[in-house]
This record gives sequence, structure tokens and C-alpha cells, in this order.
Amino acid sequence: MRAGIIGGGMIARVHAHAVRASGHEVLAAASRDRASGQRAGQETGAKEVHSTSLELIQNPCVEVVHICSPNDTHPDLVRAALEAGKHVICEKPLATDRADAQAMVDHWRSTDLVATVPFGYRFYSSVRELRARLSTGEDTPHLVRGTYLQDWLSRPTDTNWRVDSAQGGQSRAFADIGVHWCDLLEFVTGQRITSLIADLSTVYDTRGTSSEPVRTEDAAMLVFRLDSGTLGSVAISQAAPGHKNDLRIAVDTPVHSYEFHQEEPNTLWIGGREQTRIWNRADEDASLLSTAYDQSPGGHPQGWRDAFTSFVADTYRAARGAEVDGLPTFDDGLRAAVLTDAVLSSAASGRWVHIG
Ligand SMILES: NC(=O)c1ccc[n+]([C@@H]2O[C@H](COP(=O)([O-])OP(=O)(O)OC[C@H]3O[C@@H](n4cnc5c(N)ncnc54)[C@H](O)[C@@H]3O)[C@@H](O)[C@H]2O)c1
Repeated sequence: MRAGIIGGGMIARVHAHAVRASGHEVLAAASRDRASGQRAGQETGAKEVHSTSLELIQNPCVEVVHICSPNDTHPDLVRAALEAGKHVICEKPLATDRADAQAMVDHWRSTDLVATVPFGYRFYSSVRELRARLSTGEDTPHLVRGTYLQDWLSRPTDTNWRVDSAQGGQSRAFADIGVHWCDLLEFVTGQRITSLIADLSTVYDTRGTSSEPVRTEDAAMLVFRLDSGTLGSVAISQAAPGHKNDLRIAVDTPVHSYEFHQEEPNTLWIGGREQTRIWNRADEDASLLSTAYDQSPGGHPQGWRDAFTSFVADTYRAARGAEVDGLPTFDDGLRAAVLTDAVLSSAASGRWVHIG
């Protein structure tokens, strides 16, 4: 199939690699204007460059539109792509507020197109293994814990379009990375966060050379309950020096404790009273649900780009009519917007928020 990629930044390059690695073609690129579109063409290796994103969407040869531009641009681009009858991969967060995310889902549901959101951590073999182990019913979680820590915004000189709430949305750290953690937790446990209390913190009053006050959070702390009543907590920060992409999910059950660490994604830590072990991808007791996501033989490490490639490959399989298990769709993008809304409203009120 032929892809058109909008945006030429960090994640657009990962999308372009994933399209090719899963056997498809990066046909076209576009960005904010002609000049940035040319750069996007170079970054993604696209054959054609369009002057505008709408021109790319209307290119009759583009079958799947990848939206890899800042958050505030997503709703209009998704609307145009769905109206043009194109399958869509739209980066998270779907929109800068819940109402727009809901409208995008309503529009998608009125079509028979495939629309996915890159919650790519779902596509590690080790994550599928954890999900398979937790789905047997024998290991029921009674406590879930975790962190998602980064350091790329830990200095006052560090800044990015995400800091500006008009482009990134009212929430930054939670909407940018916290939603990945929550998606992964709900994915591996098969449970939903039904209530939460959250607080937010912002480290610097201003950032970079701007005198504009920073209105988006650097860090978030959540305590929550899952629908089974299980208690959980997570700390999220983009200002934790030395933590590059330190996503950890720990699940305690009466029999085992499990820990997935994104920076060591080929393994799972499995704790037990009689024995504690490091499970390795491609161990002989690996579930078939996890080996389906092995892209190389055991002992050859797989990483984030491989998981992302599996996500793109599954999206394209779905676009060709296949039934795909565990594909993050626009419904999951809306779920992230609902949780972000709950986090912001809990932080503003200081109260528990129930999530319907
Ligand atoms: N799924 C993930 O794991 C993941 C990881 C990183 C980023 N993201 C998401 O991807 C999106 C892009 O993030 P990034 O880190 O690549 O940003 P980036 O700043 O590296 O790149 C943004 C790109 O968008 C282009 N752009 C700016 N305004 C535009 C417009 N109006 N129309 C079209 N293009 C425009 C810029 O020229 C640039 O090429 C964000 O929504 C972000 O949340 C997701």
C-alpha cells in the first residue's frame, strides 16, 4: 500500500521506516509549508513532496495518511483524510481536548476505514507475554505501580512546541507520555481505570528564551482504582535527569509480581516466593501471542522501532481487511483524551474523579 506522511520530525522518520520495513511504500510527504515539506521529503525518503497537507491527502495514490504533526493540527487533518476516504494513523494525543477527540471518533465510526493511534509499546513481545499471562485468570492483579520518566525537558533552557498549550494541549507530561503508560496498563491487565486522583507540578515558570509563563505540567502523580477495585499509582515526569525513556509497569498478583521495563524490552521480571526469574523473549515457555511479535531470533535484541513497525504492519493488515488483535484504534485515542480530562479536572479540584 502507499503511504503519505504529514510532518517530517522525530516520529515521522519512525513511521517512514516502519512503512518500508512492513513492505509498503512511502509515496508522499508534506509539512507546514513547501520548504518544511521538502525537508519532510528528505527525512522520510518520500518519492513525492506536496506543498500542503491537504494536497497530500487528496493525492489519489495515497491510501494511508500518517499524521505526525503537532497535536493541534490533528483534528482538521483527520477530518480531511476521512472525507477523502483514506485510512489514517494519527499520532497521540488525537486532539488537544476531549470534545475534538470525540468528534474524530464519531466521524471515523461513520466510515468503514481503519484509524489507529500509535500506542506502540503494545507491540513488544514481552508486553504480549505479560498480557497473555495476566489473561489466564490465575494471576489477578491486586496492586499495579509504575513510572514513565524522561529528562529531555529537565533544564530551563529546554523547550518545545509541546510546552505551548495552544499547540500541545492543556496537559503536557500526562497527555504526551502518561497516556502511553495508562494505555499499556489497561492493555496488559484488560482492566480500566475507573477513578483517579491526580496532582501536577511545573518545575520552571518560563522556558527557553520565552517570557511567556509555562502553563503545562512537567510531572504528574496519579493514584487510581481499576474496575476490579485494584489499587494503582504512577509517577510521570519529563524533567527527571538521566531517565531517558524509563517506562516501567509492575503488576503484583497473589502468585507472581511482574515488571516490564521499556529500556530492557526483551525481558520481563517475574517474581515469585519459590523462584524469581528474568523471562527472555524467545524462551521456550513464550506464549504464541508473544512470539507472533518476534521479528528476529532470540538473542538478537529487538527495540522500539521494531515494535513500532509491528504496529504499522498490523494497521496495514487491518486496512486490507484482516482481523487484528490488540490494534490501538481511535477508540483508544479517545480513551486517552478521557483520562487526560480526568487528570486535569482532579488536579484542579483536588478530588477523586470517577470515569464512566
Ligand atoms: N507514538 C509515539 O510514541 C510518539 C512519539 C513521539 C511523538 N509522537 C507524536 O507525534 C507528533 C509529532 O511529534 P514529533 O516529536 O515528531 O514532533 P517534531 O517537532 O519532531 O516534528 C513535528 C513536525 O510537524 C511539522 N509541522 C508543524 N506544523 C505543521 C502543520 N501545521 N502541518 C503539517 N506539519 C506541521 C514540523 O515541520 C515537523 O516536521 C505529536 O503529536 C507527538 O505527540 C508520538
